[in-house]
Amino acid sequence: MQDEQNPWPREARWLHAGIALGVTWQLFSSLWMTPDWQHADYGSLTQLLFSTHAWMGLSTALFLLWEWLWIFTSPALRAQLFPLRGPWRPIIDDFTGLFRGRLRAPGPAPSLAALVHGLGLVLVSWMALTGTAIYFFLPQGGTPPGAILHALIPLHKALYLLVWAYWIGHVGLTLVHALRRDGIWRIFRLLD
Ligand code: HEM
Ligand code: HEM
Repeated sequence: MQDEQNPWPREARWLHAGIALGVTWQLFSSLWMTPDWQHADYGSLTQLLFSTHAWMGLSTALFLLWEWLWIFTSPALRAQLFPLRGPWRPIIDDFTGLFRGRLRAPGPAPSLAALVHGLGLVLVSWMALTGTAIYFFLPQGGTPPGAILHALIPLHKALYLLVWAYWIGHVGLTLVHALRRDGIWRIFRLLD
């Protein structure tokens, strides 16, 4: 439901909070975890960190499923994030505006930012899908990893640098907006 003060519907804010927290955790946990998927042993802190990677990853996958159900049932949101049939004018305007140092006010609307958000969602959904598949093929009770797990791991690792690039660009631009005090942090106000 859209309220008067906050430009993002409440559902968008909750979904974003879940996905942003989840993917951020996944990225930072992946820096220090020792997955040890060959043996499935959780005896050290870095191995426990992998356990959190698995559980946060599965939870994030559920948030993403909810987001996709919302996208499929909301034509306006779908056109905003995936403007296959336009409108292209706002995107071109944002692009040329950027070169002149102009930033569009934040909020859900067709824009260059919305197009990038759509691509970001596809990217993190790939991570969640491959990660969830990995979960079900992790070795149990000392069995060696099978051929399917060996095939899934490279698929999960293939695009991780793009996820970092998205995260750095997305958080960086949020900070640029925040310097302009244009109300961008309101996407994190969950109880408005
Ligand atoms: C990699 C993890 C993240 C993903 C996949 C992600 C994804 C998204 C998506 C899909 C939107 C559009 C939401 C909508 O219009 O309904 C969005 C907007 C936004 N996100 Fe994130 N987000 C992530 C992390 C973060 C983090 C860590 C921050 C905080 C610094 C953040 C701040 C924002 C802000 C301020 C907006 C609104 C931008 C605008 O209106 O143009 N996000 N994000
Ligand atoms: C939104 C969900 C997820 C994201 C964004 C994510 C992200 C990442 C990233 C960035 C890496 C590091 C890749 C590298 O350094 O090469 C990684 C590694 C890994 N992830 Fe995930 N992950 C997710 C879900 C999961 C789930 C549910 C599992 C299930 C157990 C999982 C299992 C693994 C494993 C086993 C590795 C290590 C592969 C290796 O180094 O051999 N991930 N993940």
